[in-house]
Amino acid sequence: MTETVRRHIAALAPDALPAYVYDLAALRAHAAAVRAALPERVELYYAAKANPEAPVLAALRDAVDGYEVSSGGELAHVRAAVPDAPLAFGGPGKTPAEIAAAVDAGVHRWHVESEQELHRLDAVLTDRPGTVVDVLLRVNLPVATGALDAVALAMGGRPTPFGLDPDRAEECVRLLTGDGSDPGPLGRRLRLRGVHAHLASGLTAVEQLAVAEQIVTWSAALAERHGFPLAEVNVGGGMAVDYDDPASRFDWTAFGEGLTKLLDAHPGLTLRIEPGRALTAYCGWYATEVLDVKQSHGEDFAVVRGGTHHLRTPATRGHSQPFEVLPVDAWPHPWPRPAVGTGRATLAGQLCTPKDVLARAASGADGLRAADRVLFAMAGAYAWNISHHEFLMHPRPGFHYLGS
Ligand SMILES: Cc1ncc(COP(=O)(O)O)c(C=O)c1O
Repeated sequence: MTETVRRHIAALAPDALPAYVYDLAALRAHAAAVRAALPERVELYYAAKANPEAPVLAALRDAVDGYEVSSGGELAHVRAAVPDAPLAFGGPGKTPAEIAAAVDAGVHRWHVESEQELHRLDAVLTDRPGTVVDVLLRVNLPVATGALDAVALAMGGRPTPFGLDPDRAEECVRLLTGDGSDPGPLGRRLRLRGVHAHLASGLTAVEQLAVAEQIVTWSAALAERHGFPLAEVNVGGGMAVDYDDPASRFDWTAFGEGLTKLLDAHPGLTLRIEPGRALTAYCGWYATEVLDVKQSHGEDFAVVRGGTHHLRTPATRGHSQPFEVLPVDAWPHPWPRPAVGTGRATLAGQLCTPKDVLARAASGADGLRAADRVLFAMAGAYAWNISHHEFLMHPRPGFHYLGS
């Protein structure tokens, strides 16, 4: 955390808490370093679902080639926030209205997830003579690595609603490319450019490279079998973020070097990646204050303003959100100041559910007192936007964008 962020949070009045504070200067620097680690033939898209706040999208604009959106809502929002940016449109279950809106918005790439979706897209295009769209088939590949077994958010390599099984992908290629010389029945308006596969979130650079290599090898064989030129492969997002050890970061340098080797083996191919969490997690802070400290059956609990209705990430992933304490020395009340006395405390929110826990039995809470501030780190991705804001009708947090 920079001194600017710390000072900003220290200066907020208690009623201005909780607050999400984003360090956009740090975000820009991080995204530029990620971009610099990647070879030129890798396009970097940002998965907007990780954090679609407009200032966050805008701060990324110089470093990314485009944005991945997964609904009509995201499409309209991202288009308004960064009007000139190329968009890739993915997601299972696209409605006919979303498909029509995305065609009219001129999305750059379609990640088609089923055979029916190809037909739906083609049907929308028949009403728009002359419009041709670029398609990647999203494939659910069985990858031969233990990597996907260990991660919590595997979306491929097992039965899921995402993408096409490899045999269905073969059929889609036939619909798009016919026999290789003649376009297939859907090949006049839909141009097949390659393959998309987002198989899991939470992979290290070594695991990501193993997965990417298998996706590219499979895609090249598919193109060879059907005689179409493989122009692009999108190997997805899912670069690991370690909430237990915020200092340990995804190794973008090793990843970039590995992708260079992969590209050397496939001249003419463009690779694309679409990380979300690993780009924005580190730039966001959820700042709050301790309302009360109490002992319950021998354990300390610090109850903070706000909770998992603002920052659901620790509840959904089952981790303790990392945090820093900002001590506040003033205690203007005549009664004793409650404080943690057992050396550790569970940081709970204001909700009436035992699941409202931001950090469990944390030693970093030793000595924590009522009115001290707690700054939860790594709150820049899948944080506010995945939380259940309306539960119990507490006020919304403030939003602060520093370094814009
Ligand atoms: C298709 C797709 N691409 C990219 C991402 C981004 O993943 P992450 O935020 O783990 O990088 C997701 C996340 O669910 C996704 O579903």
